[in-house]
Amino acid sequence: MDGYDPATYGDRFASVYDDWYAGITDAKTCAELLADLADLDHEAGGGPVLELGIGTGRLALPLSALGVQVVGVDTSEAMLAALAAKPGAGAIETVVGDMADPPLGDRRFAVVFVAYNTLFNLVDPADQQRCFDSAAGRLVPGGSFVVEAFVPAPGQAQQSVAPRTITADRVVLSVSQTDPGRQEAMGQYLDISEAGIALRPWHIRWSTLDELDAMAVRSGLVLADRWADWDRTPFGVDSPSHVSRYTPAP
Ligand SMILES: C[S@@+](CC[C@H](N)C(=O)[O-])C[C@H]1O[C@@H](n2cnc3c(N)ncnc32)[C@H](O)[C@@H]1O
Repeated sequence: MDGYDPATYGDRFASVYDDWYAGITDAKTCAELLADLADLDHEAGGGPVLELGIGTGRLALPLSALGVQVVGVDTSEAMLAALAAKPGAGAIETVVGDMADPPLGDRRFAVVFVAYNTLFNLVDPADQQRCFDSAAGRLVPGGSFVVEAFVPAPGQAQQSVAPRTITADRVVLSVSQTDPGRQEAMGQYLDISEAGIALRPWHIRWSTLDELDAMAVRSGLVLADRWADWDRTPFGVDSPSHVSRYTPAP
């Protein structure tokens, strides 16, 4: 998308993110699973948890509240400012940087995770591979790289315009198009009120399960678990999304 860079999504959504997406997945269950994994790895040397694309802390804050040391990376200073304004944020270390290769020197983590399709914000597959490489290189022995994303379904190219919100003072229109050949989707929310029009663009490149697993193998990781959700529901052929845990290959 012309004019779109790695900080655009966060910068344009920061003011509405919590209103629109606070309940999109079960943050408490996610935090409990990640805390378990961090504990499990404690035997192998312990260490903090790194969230890639931490955003406003929807997941990091409940995880931190469980006593887990959390570090978060995000390209958007606006998203990190929204996080910093929340109670409990002082316990979380945040870093401005690209999740394809976060500027964290040689720091290691028991768990690195990237949730809610955020990996797909890297629209170049080579950058998704770099993200796997970087995460793999940051794991302590026995550590986990956890990826939550939707399972791509076969489909045709589509374009749509649909209302997201209609009130007396505001209309939010969702304009989007998908390109299955390129495995890309992009769109805009046109947020229209008497104050003016805010443009909230997004752009993703999805990867299939096989592609993700192949990236993991190239990074020296293997698939250890695949669940349908953060509750560890067994993954099935009809699962619309997945939580995949990769660990260093033996
Ligand atoms: C969909 S939000 C998810 C936020 C949070 N993880 C959650 O689950 O609520 C995606 C986040 O990733 C950030 N982001 C997008 N591209 C990024 C990149 N290349 N590197 C780091 N963060 C990125 C955005 O700024 C945004 O905060």
